[in-house]
Amino acid sequence: MKKIVLLGYMGCGKSTIAQNLSKITNIPFLDLDKIIEERAKMSINEIFEKHGEIYFRKLEHEIFVELLQSDENNIIGLGGGTPCYANNHELLKGENVDSIYLKASIDTLYNRLVYNKSKRPLIANMDEEEMKEFIAKHLFDRSFYYNQSKHKVVVDDRSVEETVQDILRVLA
Ligand code: S3P
Repeated sequence: MKKIVLLGYMGCGKSTIAQNLSKITNIPFLDLDKIIEERAKMSINEIFEKHGEIYFRKLEHEIFVELLQSDENNIIGLGGGTPCYANNHELLKGENVDSIYLKASIDTLYNRLVYNKSKRPLIANMDEEEMKEFIAKHLFDRSFYYNQSKHKVVVDDRSVEETVQDILRVLA
């Protein structure tokens, strides 16, 4: 079964783009963060607060493996950190996996995240200055993992519809 996996930094648009791609292709969309919240019966913020990040990363890995093994074609939207923990980046290279890195610049990410950070425990308590520095360094560290995906689509200055078309082109 084919799995189209969308990955990239927080704020790159994974969920919105995946939803639109799902509508156009009729391939069901699975949102990893949402499934984690359903399983844990609490929000991502609460998981981080009550159990800590390592617990979250273990749960994230277990559920990611499970979704990859399911018996249907799917579009899977990852969390920003998913490829960077356990051996998740290796799973992006699997035979039945079409992994796509949605690449955004630091400025694009900062502009999208600055008013949209409350549900993201890693940046929720940062001021603007701190956040800009954090994103720059964090994106640099994580790029090693993101770049292991099979395809890359640049999302800066592209509408959701244009990005969906870009994805369909790289998959063709
Ligand atoms: C995280 C990104 C979040 C969520 C969690 C950790 C990260 O997902 O999985 O807060 O480590 O970058 P989004 O990329 O959908 O915000």
